[in-house]
Amino acid sequence: MRSGSFMSFPSVPPFEDGCQLIRGPGRPFKRECPGKLVKMLFFTFLMAGLVIGTIFVSHMSEYYPAGSTFLSNSLSLCRDNLNSYIEPVQWVNPESWLRGLSIHHNMSDEELLWLASMAPQREGVPIQRVPKIAFMFLTRGPLPLAPLWERFFGGNQGLFSIYVHTHPNYKLDMPTSSVFYRRQIPSKEAQWGDVTMCDAERRLLANALLDFSNERFVLLSETCIPLHPFPIIYNYLILANESFIGAFDDPGPYGRGRYNPQMAPLITVEAWRKGSQWFELKRNLAVELVSDTLYYPKFKDFCIPGCYVDEHYFPTFLSIEFGPQLANRSVTSVDWSRGGAHPAMFGGGDITEAFLTNIREQRDCLYNGQPGSICFLFARKFSPSTLEPLVQLAPKFLDTVGSVDLRQR
Ligand SMILES: *[C@@H]1O[C@H](CO)[C@@H](O)[C@H](O)[C@H]1NC(C)=O
Ligand SMILES: *[C@@H]1O[C@H](CO)[C@@H](O)[C@H](O)[C@H]1NC(C)=O
Ligand SMILES: *[C@@H]1O[C@H](CO)[C@@H](O)[C@H](O)[C@H]1NC(C)=O
Repeated sequence: MRSGSFMSFPSVPPFEDGCQLIRGPGRPFKRECPGKLVKMLFFTFLMAGLVIGTIFVSHMSEYYPAGSTFLSNSLSLCRDNLNSYIEPVQWVNPESWLRGLSIHHNMSDEELLWLASMAPQREGVPIQRVPKIAFMFLTRGPLPLAPLWERFFGGNQGLFSIYVHTHPNYKLDMPTSSVFYRRQIPSKEAQWGDVTMCDAERRLLANALLDFSNERFVLLSETCIPLHPFPIIYNYLILANESFIGAFDDPGPYGRGRYNPQMAPLITVEAWRKGSQWFELKRNLAVELVSDTLYYPKFKDFCIPGCYVDEHYFPTFLSIEFGPQLANRSVTSVDWSRGGAHPAMFGGGDITEAFLTNIREQRDCLYNGQPGSICFLFARKFSPSTLEPLVQLAPKFLDTVGSVDLRQR
């Protein structure tokens, strides 16, 4: 008897292997071995582990095609032992990384933003590559001014990428020859003034970030037009050392009046900024916007109807965290001179050479710390009726007039 609990069965001695006959209340005798249960459990776990391991490895080879460094590193020993090592067919390198990921995916927003938030930490790029500008169109449906944009982009392949966010039910149908062909990203409903508008903008940024060649990110609407030839806009943005987003402190009811004290202490009323949503950002700030999980919930919860989150979230967040990197102005011109809640919408009758020259020639801004350069690259809002006169004037404002070195201006 080794334990007091067996005292009630003094007539049954222990077996030589350590097992004992024991009897629960009202049950027949049962042979119980202290070591056997442990051995059986151990054996069961070993078998289960082997089965799970085999299934895992066979599935891994589906997700990591032969040649992926992960599989070849972690399994080469195992494969060598099995005498069936497969030589990798394709290596991961900076080129394959830069080629990026497809925009035709079914990732959730959370998956997409997480993937897009990844950024190299090491300075410089070890390979030759041409930086691109991501043109991100936020529209409900059609792009009536597409022919003008086609003309603008024509002949500049490799220097830009296009992304279009529409109403989720709208199918952007473009011919294969179009720069917009298959450039529609997986979209969701977006309401003006609502956080869903910021979600759409972050969705555009995240999809554009999947292409590692994109260096600058410009948000446009279906009523926007380009004001200069492509090479001028390209150089202007690629050589700019700041990001272009309107961010100002408006003490009135439509500025600080929309501030909600529940956002404090993270966001104070002094730090509250306003600006139009039509931004242009450098890659590092685009990454910051899709990575933000601190400010976003504050705006989602406390910048509610009457606040217009799309006019405050990006300017406020970027000003607080990255103020010195901002130009605090937009490169997209808009006309508020007619008054009211919305800027002027131009019609076909407004479009003259003098009208366009007037917007193009505005020079009251700084560029890389210097005055006197171009201020506006794009303009809004242009109705579909402006297409014909704009296309007629295109040779005057969209066709290249020699190369312009912006640094000298
Ligand atoms: C995307 O598609 C795959 C395969 O059809 C599916 O397993 C996955 O759950 C989908 N993801 C989402 C977020 O819908
Ligand atoms: C823009 O505003 C921020 C403060 O919000 C400031 O740090 C920065 O210097 C300003 N940029 C320019 C070009 O004035
Ligand atoms: C951009 O360049 C100007 C002129 O050199 C400089 O004053 C400014 O601080 C620079 N801005 C940034 C964000 O580096």
